[in-house]
Amino acid sequence: MKILNSQSEYGILAKLFHWFTFFVLIAQVPFGFYLVGLEFSEERIELENIHILVGISVFYLTLFRLIWKFFNPSPTESKSFFRGQVFIGKANHFLLYLCIFSITISGILKKLYMGEKLNFIFFKYGFEKDNFVLADAYYQVHIYANYLLLALVSLHILAVIVHHFVFKDKILNKIS
Ligand code: HEM
Ligand code: HEM
Repeated sequence: MKILNSQSEYGILAKLFHWFTFFVLIAQVPFGFYLVGLEFSEERIELENIHILVGISVFYLTLFRLIWKFFNPSPTESKSFFRGQVFIGKANHFLLYLCIFSITISGILKKLYMGEKLNFIFFKYGFEKDNFVLADAYYQVHIYANYLLLALVSLHILAVIVHHFVFKDKILNKIS
């Protein structure tokens, strides 16, 4: 198994980034929705801290993933079954990355504008002043970006199913 991506297949590191992010996100999104439904308590604070720590880890992971992608471009070899297909695929991937950053950065900014100090794993940081209007605005971004993520991931999976069963081009072999 190769570490680097080839023309036709992702390397082991890109595969690990992809599947690790997938498994974290399928837990983190419902966990977020569960969290907001909880009454204020010690347990809620603890769960929120876990949500934040996992979220900040996803931010770092996606950053490393993009740095890796910059130095080791994704496979370029892909069959086109209709015009614009490659563009649609690339747009979907770009929006998925954008969505992950929007979710994590808006979550971070919401907490910082609440006037709280955050644990960024390697350091701790907080703003001097709070601003609840901005905190609420970033929280709205946090919520809507999550809905957008769900829509984009559904499209992404639908595309894989169509590739597999209709185009029969073994697209899953690229990433598994
Ligand atoms: C949270 C869910 C998921 C996210 C956020 C996600 C994100 C991504 C991203 C960003 C890429 C592009 C990688 C790159 O070149 O930089 C990608 C590629 C790919 N993903 Fe996913 N993915 C998810 C779930 C899945 C699932 C469940 C499947 C399989 C059923 C899948 C199959 C693939 C395949 C086959 C590719 C390669 C596509 C190609 O290069 O043409 N993904 N994914
Ligand atoms: C992959 C990353 C993340 C995902 C998928 C995610 C997802 C979610 C979801 C779905 C909600 C429920 C929204 C609602 O319906 O009201 C939520 C709430 C929340 N998220 Fe995230 N989140 C992520 C990262 C973060 C980060 C990095 C932070 C802060 C540093 C954060 C802070 C919060 C807070 C504080 C709430 C609850 C707000 C409240 O009830 O007061 N999240 N998250």
